[in-house]
Amino acid sequence: MAKITASVYTSHIPAVGVAWDLKKTAEDYWKPVFAGYEYSKQWQKENKPDVIILVYNDHTNNFGFDLIPTFALGMNEEFIPCDEGWGPRPIPNVPGDQAFASHLAHSVIEQGFDLTLCYELGVDHGLTVPLSLMFGDVDPWPVKVIPLHVNVVQYPVPSGQRCYDLGRAIRNAVAAYDEDINVHIWGTGGMSHQLQGPRAGLINKEWDNQFLDDLIADPKTLAKKPHVEYVREAGSEGIELVMWLIARAAMCEEGQQPVVKHRFYHVPASNTAVGHLILEAPSSE
Ligand code: DHB
Ligand code: FE
Repeated sequence: MAKITASVYTSHIPAVGVAWDLKKTAEDYWKPVFAGYEYSKQWQKENKPDVIILVYNDHTNNFGFDLIPTFALGMNEEFIPCDEGWGPRPIPNVPGDQAFASHLAHSVIEQGFDLTLCYELGVDHGLTVPLSLMFGDVDPWPVKVIPLHVNVVQYPVPSGQRCYDLGRAIRNAVAAYDEDINVHIWGTGGMSHQLQGPRAGLINKEWDNQFLDDLIADPKTLAKKPHVEYVREAGSEGIELVMWLIARAAMCEEGQQPVVKHRFYHVPASNTAVGHLILEAPSSE
C-alpha cells in the first residue's frame, strides 16, 4: 500500500531559482535564504520518497488567462521547464509517474473533484524552485513528481476549505494504491507578498508566523479562513498559501499531530517572505 510519510512546504520565489542557477547563493543577500535549506537538503537525502505529489501554481507560463484550470494533474512521464522570459532554467526535465497519476485521477475524481488532466504540461518556478531548494544540483532528479496545479492567479480561486478537502481526497487515493511506495506531498507558494499596485512589497511577519503555527496545529480551523483575509493581511499573492492546506490535509489523519522536523522564516527574498516547513507523519501510523 502507498503511504504519505512526510510533507514539505516552501515559498517558490523565481529570483531564488535565478540566484541558484547563477551561483549567487553565497552572496550576502542570498546567504541567509539558502542557509534555511541546508538542513532540508540533508533531510531530503536521508528521506527520499519514490514520488512527490507537488502542489504548485502556474504563473501564466504554461496556462494563460485565456484558459486556466482550477485543479490540474500532470499525467505525463516527463515535464519540461518553461521559458519564463529569461530562458528555461538549466535543470533536468522532471520525471512523472503515469501509473500513479492515473490512479490518483480516477480516485480523486470519483470522490467529487473534477480535476483537469494534463498530458503536455510545462512547469514554471512554482514547481522547479522548490525542487532545487530540496535536492540541489542533481541530474537526473532522483524522484518522480506528480504536478498538481492550483489556480491562485485568476479569480475566482478555490477556497481554503476546498483545498483542504482535496487534500483529504488525495490521502484516501494514496491509501487505496496497491503499490508499496513512499509518497511525500509538497505545498508551495507564499508567504505574504504583493507584487503589484499601491501595496506592492507588503510583508506581514506576524500573520505569516501565525499561519505556520495554525498549519501545524489546527489546519481544519485554518481551512475556514476566507480569501479576503489572505489578501488583506498577506497581500494579493499571499493567497498562494491555500495550496499548503492541500498538503497538510493529506499528510496525516485529522486530529493527529505531525512531527515538526524543520521550520524556517526569513525576510526578505525578492518581494516576499520565505517560509518553509518539513513535517513528518506521526510514527504511530
Ligand atoms: C515572486 C513571484 C512568485 O510567484 C512568488 O510566489 C513569490 C515571489 C516574485 O516575483 O518576487
Ligand atoms: Fe508564486
